[in-house]
Amino acid sequence: MSLLLDVRQVRKRYGGVLANDGVSLQVREGEIAGLIGPNGSGKSTLFGAICGVFPIDGGDVVFEGTSISHMRVGPIARRGLVRTYQQTRIYGEMSCMENMRISSRAAQGNVLSLLQLKARGHERHAEDLLAFVGLFEKRFEMAGRLSFGQQKLLEFAMALMSEPKLLLLDEPTAGINPTLINGLVDRLQRANKELGVTLLVIEHNMRVIMNLAQHITCLAHGCVLASGAPEEVRNDPRVLDAYLGAQ
Ligand SMILES: Nc1ncnc2c1ncn2[C@@H]1O[C@H](COP(=O)(O)OP(=O)(O)OP(=O)(O)O)[C@@H](O)[C@H]1O
Ligand SMILES: [Mg+2]
Repeated sequence: MSLLLDVRQVRKRYGGVLANDGVSLQVREGEIAGLIGPNGSGKSTLFGAICGVFPIDGGDVVFEGTSISHMRVGPIARRGLVRTYQQTRIYGEMSCMENMRISSRAAQGNVLSLLQLKARGHERHAEDLLAFVGLFEKRFEMAGRLSFGQQKLLEFAMALMSEPKLLLLDEPTAGINPTLINGLVDRLQRANKELGVTLLVIEHNMRVIMNLAQHITCLAHGCVLASGAPEEVRNDPRVLDAYLGAQ
């Protein structure tokens, strides 16, 4: 499998906090990769660094052989690298998604129109994706009226609408009813297999990430603690310590 994303020694500081301290990781085309680590270990910051949400303080991010570390969100998204957020942002004053700004007015539009914000005239594609995530029946409802879990599914569909090559998902199962988690995992796998989207997934649910990912990186205190096959990482004493120490 060829290398799609190559994160090289990325550093990001917030004032006195070194949130990413020389993080390197690689994602190969076609795989599902996992990113784990205790709260505050720098996972979401790394997503921001990769997607151009803020300038990084050191290192490089290479996507399909091109350095993107000096590019911002829009151009990066147009290259096919898109993320979702830990907290869904469909609600709110200045709700926004990485590559598609959604005003609070848009959140009052119906689900189907929201999906077509950046792709007008693609109604069929939007309907197919809503069916794919299980929201077809809700297509004429106001986006802001959906439950938290449904909003996460909608955000997933919106991200797929732009046909990304690499999709970064920040805790996709957080806040989702446990009985619906298996359905979501199944959709992530289908997006990977059937739609050909490479995934990098931040996940706290160990059962989910161990089943989903082929390769896992664990962060702690802004550094890579371990990286490898799920079994290896799960049984790594440093990983166990980092999680127990964080309790
Ligand atoms: N905008 C910000 N300004 C200042 N400090 C921040 C900011 N965002 C994150 N941090 C700090 O950077 C560190 C890493 O945070 P980050 O959100 O990347 O961790 P995380 O691994 O995603 O955690 P979680 O699992 O809780 O989502 C933490 O110490 C956090 O408090
Ligand atoms: Mg986070």
